[in-house]
Amino acid sequence: MRIRIGALAAILWVAALPAAGQSPPKPPANDDCLACHDATATRPTGQSMAVDATRFEASTHGPMACVDCHADLAKLTEFPHADKLAKVECGSCHDDVRSKYRDSIHAYGKEIVGLSMAPACADCHGKHDIKPRTDLTSRVYHTRIAETCGSCHTGIKEHFDTSVHAVALKKGDTKAPSCTDCHTAHAIQRADTDKWRLDVTAECGSCHTKVVESFRRTFHGKVTELGFSRVAACADCHGAHNILPASNPASTISQARLVSTCGKCHQGANQQFVKYDPHPNPQDYSRSAVLWWANRFYWVLIPGCFGFFGLHSALWFLRAARERRKKGGAA
Ligand code: HEC
Ligand code: HEC
Ligand code: HEC
Ligand code: HEC
Ligand code: HEC
Ligand code: HEC
Ligand code: HEC
Ligand code: HEC
Ligand code: HEC
Repeated sequence: MRIRIGALAAILWVAALPAAGQSPPKPPANDDCLACHDATATRPTGQSMAVDATRFEASTHGPMACVDCHADLAKLTEFPHADKLAKVECGSCHDDVRSKYRDSIHAYGKEIVGLSMAPACADCHGKHDIKPRTDLTSRVYHTRIAETCGSCHTGIKEHFDTSVHAVALKKGDTKAPSCTDCHTAHAIQRADTDKWRLDVTAECGSCHTKVVESFRRTFHGKVTELGFSRVAACADCHGAHNILPASNPASTISQARLVSTCGKCHQGANQQFVKYDPHPNPQDYSRSAVLWWANRFYWVLIPGCFGFFGLHSALWFLRAARERRKKGGAA
């Protein structure tokens, strides 16, 4: 038995010899592909199958081989190739991003529901002209993200364009939020779940730090902090995509619209009710003199109270100690 296996191995080894002398076939070079896929190439059907070599080379993947992405052609030795090729799997290199994307509403729509309109990687990034996110011409450069998402979410983009945030972005203020600051880029979730609504409040607060402090002082803030999303969080009063300063009459928090904004949840809200301050700041006299004075009053009252009773207790303690010593000395 042992001999027979040995003999078989020897035969296989001999058979393999000529192949070992050759190097494995080289994958097709980019120029091979570009010979057919030049800048004007069309399919037999008339559809484009052009690749702009200059733009590809200037892209972040410029140094790569075509077959790094079109991996099913990597072992091709003879053209023409099959008419139908496998989809490019971006996640084979960008594994971290793929795992985030896989849990998103977009992947759910695309892969589970089968919505052809839901975006895969290339719908947001492009195919052969992908640039790093820090490049001004990238589709995902901070100030261009709204346009990219807005190519599908047109209604929201229209609202967003009028907001104070979008206006700031247009001026080049990269500190203002775009879609992904509130929604993330890859792990996008449905926007109507409790957990998500609570997370967004934290997100608004990461930029508006002073305001979030004041919000936490309110009933709405305290309850939100406990994890209940039924009370008002930032977006319930300010809107999500159409956020405007109070001075703009179109704002949900303008004097003209406050009654209806609060009225969504507080039936019978009126001008008196909306005088309630959603962002109380006891340090700010101009905002509310009453709150400021109340705060000062407590500053005097509380140290005063503790000071007085503290001193009182200390004296009491001293006296008791002296009494005890006196008694001890007498015994
Ligand atoms: C001999 C010419 C030729 C060469 C060389 C060639 N292609 Fe093609 N390629 C075609 C034609 C023709 C089609 C259109 C097939 C159809 O739609 O019927 C095509 C289609 C494609 C498609 C679309 C496939 C699909 O499923 O719709 C991709 C991707 C592609 N080629 C990539 C490459 C890559 C990468 C290379 C280099 C490894 C390459 N091609 C080399 C002729 C060529
Ligand atoms: C970063 C990955 C990547 C690289 C590198 C790449 N492609 Fe593509 N290519 C894609 C994606 C994504 C598509 C869209 C179809 C899909 O998802 O499979 C595509 C589609 C194509 C198509 C079909 C026509 C079209 O525009 O949809 C052709 C032809 C093609 N690529 C040729 C090439 C050639 C030639 C090269 C090298 C010069 C190349 N590709 C390099 C990702 C890539
Ligand atoms: C190619 C079109 C397309 C692009 C681009 C796109 N989306 Fe979507 N988006 C969809 C579709 C389709 C759905 C619905 C998916 C579903 O319901 O399963 C969706 C769902 C959503 C939802 C969940 C909506 C809900 O009902 O709660 C959010 C949030 C969202 N997208 C945000 C974004 C953001 C942010 C971007 C940009 C970073 C973006 N989308 C880019 C097509 C797109
Ligand atoms: C809905 C649109 C959208 C889809 C779908 C999408 N991306 Fe992105 N991607 C973005 C945006 C926007 C950014 C910029 C992030 C930012 O600045 O907040 C980005 C950033 C990136 C980056 C830069 C590094 C990083 O982690 O931020 C990589 C790499 C990337 N995407 C790869 C992918 C891959 C791979 C897929 C598919 C699995 C994908 N993207 C799907 C919109 C998208
Ligand atoms: C064969 C591996 C490979 C594949 C496949 C691939 N990439 Fe990349 N990608 C890279 C490398 C390498 C870089 C440059 C290094 C880096 O920044 O991560 C890069 C960079 C990027 C960037 C810029 C990252 C940044 O910092 O902003 C984006 C966006 C991106 N890729 C998206 C995609 C998309 C979308 C696909 C599919 C169409 C894809 N990649 C397919 C290897 C790959
Ligand atoms: C400042 C934070 C913020 C920014 C920026 C933002 N969103 Fe939203 N988005 C929200 C909030 C909060 C909700 C939940 C809305 C609600 O409950 O009325 C939401 C809901 C959504 C929904 C689902 C609900 C619907 O009305 O269909 C989509 C889709 C969406 N946003 C897309 C986008 C897109 C696209 C952009 C960029 C143009 C964007 N968002 C920018 C906070 C934001
Ligand atoms: C990434 C940072 C960032 C996030 C996240 C963010 N904002 Fe803003 N916000 C800004 C910047 C920057 C401005 C200033 C724009 C200007 O003054 O031109 C602004 C302006 C505003 C204004 C107008 C203030 C004024 O004084 O005119 C309101 C109201 C506002 N944001 C509410 C919100 C709400 C509500 C959220 C969450 C749903 C939010 N913001 C999320 C950065 C952010
Ligand atoms: C109960 C409703 C309500 C909630 C909840 C709320 N706000 Fe406000 N916010 C208002 C009103 C009303 C004003 C305008 C009057 C004022 O300045 O107090 C305002 C003012 C602001 C301003 C200044 C705008 C300006 O024009 O001066 C910012 C920024 C702001 N809010 C951000 C936030 C953020 C961030 C959150 C969540 C942490 C939040 N708000 C929660 C109602 C609310
Ligand atoms: C998204 C719904 C929602 C919005 C919008 C909203 N609130 Fe509230 N608010 C609540 C809930 C829920 C409670 C707690 C239940 C209760 O006592 O009514 C609450 C409690 C309050 C309280 C404390 C009540 C108490 O008994 O101590 C005041 C004051 C208040 N809201 C004022 C406002 C004002 C002013 C606005 C508009 C600027 C506003 N709210 C907008 C949901 C909302």
